[in-house]
Parts: sequence; structure tokens; C-alpha cells
Amino acid sequence: MEVVIDRSETLAALAADAIEALVTRRSDAVLGLATGSTPSSVYDELVRRHAEEGLSFAGVRGFLLDEYVGLPEGHPEAYRTVIERELVSRLDLPTESVLGPDGRAEDLAAACTGYEQAIADAGGIDLQILGIGTDGHVAFNEPGSSLASRTRIKTLTEQTRRDNARFFDDEVDAVPQHVLTQGLGTIMAARHLVLLAMGRSKAEAVHQLVEGPISAMWPATILQMHPHVTVLVDDGAASRLQLAAYYRETWQSKPDWQPL
Ligand code: F6R
Repeated sequence: MEVVIDRSETLAALAADAIEALVTRRSDAVLGLATGSTPSSVYDELVRRHAEEGLSFAGVRGFLLDEYVGLPEGHPEAYRTVIERELVSRLDLPTESVLGPDGRAEDLAAACTGYEQAIADAGGIDLQILGIGTDGHVAFNEPGSSLASRTRIKTLTEQTRRDNARFFDDEVDAVPQHVLTQGLGTIMAARHLVLLAMGRSKAEAVHQLVEGPISAMWPATILQMHPHVTVLVDDGAASRLQLAAYYRETWQSKPDWQPL
């Protein structure tokens, strides 16, 4: 696990660099796309590189991490709508090349199985962008999630619904209680995980993720078992890391020839 502590603009550029290197190497790369506040600056930077430098996503495919259950099609906070608005519509990435779990399906369990199959049919995810919840969730794998789980229905914790109420006019009750989410096993199958976290509210979750014991109580800790994880955090999110000085030194002395 590589931990980079830097300013948020630098972190967004680093994540965009990793994506640019991938899609330049493989024009049909498969990206895993998170939603929420954290990845917005990365997506803005990709849009800038597309507009100003001609970076193309025409052959790329994308898979969302998760989706709320029961929001009507086109709801502004449905993750399919969010990713379309924030990323897909601003790139040369065809809408049909990006899939998400279908939170409006009549048979939700079948939608989850079908989603796993679609990821497998695409050859798996090359690079997965991740955020982290204040309770240590990745995607919507809340505390207590199986560390080997696959895409399935989950119930959001009260804490996550409160955290996400800001997207629903500060009404906790308007945040759906259920979601479809890639499982921790699904995420662990991606070839490179790039997790970003900004702000002090994420500090405990980041400390547990990087330095805590692996436990379903902090689901992100399973990432310690992945061979290629990049954790990009600002000073606030890094504020509880015990080995922060070591991570800073490691990053500063990293040779140019060793990419993220
Ligand atoms: C969103 C997702 C969630 C968020 C997490 C952090 O697709 O999977 O795990 O990454 O809740 O959300 P923000 O970035 O809004 O703090």
C-alpha cells in the first residue's frame, strides 16, 4: 500500500496521471468509477485533459461502484445520473460504455449477479477509483460486510445516510435506505485501487484503513491484502496516521521510474 500525503489539487492530478497512463497504454481500459464528493476533482482534471490535451476515452469502459435502490430514472442524485453529469457527458466516452448496478430492477438479486457478469465479460476492472466513508465503508460495504462479498443489496447505516443527506436537501429521510453495491471481493479483484480521502472527518477511517487490524468493522481494511493500492490523502485525512512522517519521506524519495 502506497500512501501519498499532499494538497488536494496534487492528489487529483496524481489520480488523473494514473488514469491517463492507463488509457494511453490501453485504449479499451476498464475503469471503476466512484461517485460522491471526493472524486469530483479527479473527474474535472480528466475533463480538462480531454478538452485541452486531447486525452481520449472513446474506447474506455466504465463500471460504477454502487447505486441507490428505488430512485426514479434520471433522479439528480442517482449515481448513474451523477456520473453522466460529472464525467461521461463531458468526455468522448459513450454513455452506453458505462454501466452501474440497476437500483430500479424488479429482481434486484438478479441485477447484482448480472452486474458481476458484465464486469467479468469486460475482462475485469483495470483501475478502480475509491472514496471512503467516515465509518470506513468502501463502495457501500458498511461495517459488518463480508470481506469476500460480491455485488449485492446493502442497508446504509444511519451515519452514512446522515453524511449523504447533504445531497438530498439535508433530509436524512430522503436518502434511500438500500443500495446495490459492488462487494469487497469485487473491488479486490480490480487490478489497481486508487483511494482518495480529503478532510479531518475521514481521518479515523484512513488510520484504520492503513494501520488498523483487518476487520469487517472497518471494511476498507481489507485493502491491506491487495497487492496494488494507492492511498491519496490530504493533511486533514492524514491527521491520525501514526507513520505519517515515514509515508511523506517515502513519497519524497520515490524514484521517477517507479509509477503509482
Ligand atoms: C460512492 C461510494 C462511497 C463514497 C464514500 C465517500 O460511489 O462508493 O463509498 O466514496 O461514501 O463519499 P464522499 O466522497 O462524498 O465523502
